[in-house]
Amino acid sequence: MTTFHDPAPHDGRPAHDGPTADPVSADPVEVTVTACPDGPLLVRGPAAILGPDGEPVPRRRATVALCRCGGTAVAPWCDGTHKVNGYRSGG
Ligand code: FES
Repeated sequence: MTTFHDPAPHDGRPAHDGPTADPVSADPVEVTVTACPDGPLLVRGPAAILGPDGEPVPRRRATVALCRCGGTAVAPWCDGTHKVNGYRSGG
């Protein structure tokens, strides 16, 4: 499982409060992206999901699943197709 952290505070403040600020620990809002084995990327937190046109894709949940198998019928979201198309994330 791989987890990434978005250091941006998402409240209009700069990502860094000063020259010694730790951008991850200074962030009161955490966003994580978790790569599910043989499945989607789970995005937890208030990250903006942008479409190919750069416009935000509306989301209704605090946690969303992004397809990475390419088989979904409801892109960019996972619809469970990875379970039947044999997708393997490898490594
Ligand atoms: S990862 Fe679930 S449908 Fe593609």
